[in-house]
Amino acid sequence: MLIKKPEDIKGSEITDENLYHNRRKFIRGAVLAGSALATGFIYRKLAVPSREKAPADAVARAGSYLTAEGEPSNDFEDIANYNNFYEFSTSKSGVAPRAKGFVTRPWAIEVDGLVHKPKTFDLDDLLKIAPLEDRVYRLRCVEAWSMVIPWLGFPLAKLLEQVQPMGEATFVKFFTLFDPARMPNQIEDVLPWPYVEGLRLDEAMHPLTILASGLYGKTLPPQNGAPLRLVVPWKYGFKSIKSIVKITLTNRQPNTTWGDYAPNEYGFYSNVNPNVSHPRWSQATERRIGEFGQRDTILFNGYGDQVAHLYKGMDLGKYY
Ligand code: MTE
Repeated sequence: MLIKKPEDIKGSEITDENLYHNRRKFIRGAVLAGSALATGFIYRKLAVPSREKAPADAVARAGSYLTAEGEPSNDFEDIANYNNFYEFSTSKSGVAPRAKGFVTRPWAIEVDGLVHKPKTFDLDDLLKIAPLEDRVYRLRCVEAWSMVIPWLGFPLAKLLEQVQPMGEATFVKFFTLFDPARMPNQIEDVLPWPYVEGLRLDEAMHPLTILASGLYGKTLPPQNGAPLRLVVPWKYGFKSIKSIVKITLTNRQPNTTWGDYAPNEYGFYSNVNPNVSHPRWSQATERRIGEFGQRDTILFNGYGDQVAHLYKGMDLGKYY
């Protein structure tokens, strides 16, 4: 994500993003990138971080985690060391070291609003609502990079069914923990805290939408949104909010952190769409972490046959 307000970005910096993508290919494995607008200057300043190593069985199982289309998962090391989680750091390589030791037990998740049975769930009880499944999904960041991640989770619909949404509920709002003592970057004014996100209720109930508590068959590392995060694979990655403490059902489209920050850049729907550019760069292609070159970005991140019907009647060429 971009922490500078659009008006603060100089044209020269925008060009640097392409440069950054090219440089990154060559330095992969040696030094992790800073932000999407990182420059060579930042690379030189960064000490080589100690990367989180994959558990041995994750390495052994890596080959068996494929998407439905047969794409292999990214290495655990990439997934766990190249992160966007502004509550800890705005540097992708800075998140894992700063999130190390983030305590996720006890943890409660409150579900309230337009529901017949509001309830605060203890996390360990919540994880028993439905069997955890491996879901190997593409994650396409709005910054034009992507990964394949083998999540462990269960459909959000299973949790929502427990609280029985009222007939008038049409949207769902999600809240990340706000606790600057535990999430050190929350003392900084980089974003309005807590991080909040939203979905339409039918998007939230869609079987592809999951709450993830793990990846590579293991407990979720803190930097990936422990203990529980949302994953909505057909939308840009910023919709997949991390470290959730509260879910509210409502009848109004909720505000979102990035939408509040830059409404003309981060729409409520934010479905992956190669034909609708971000105001400052194209979304036509993406860089798969770990690969050379660019791939074409696919409408709805390749999940169109399952989700396109949700947007019937909406003009997909329009920015939402
Ligand atoms: N959730 C919170 N609370 N804070 C964040 O900064 N970043 C988002 C999303 N969820 C973010 C967040 C963005 S921009 C992306 S691309 C994904 O998390 C990255 O998830 P990952 O680090 O597990 O790959």
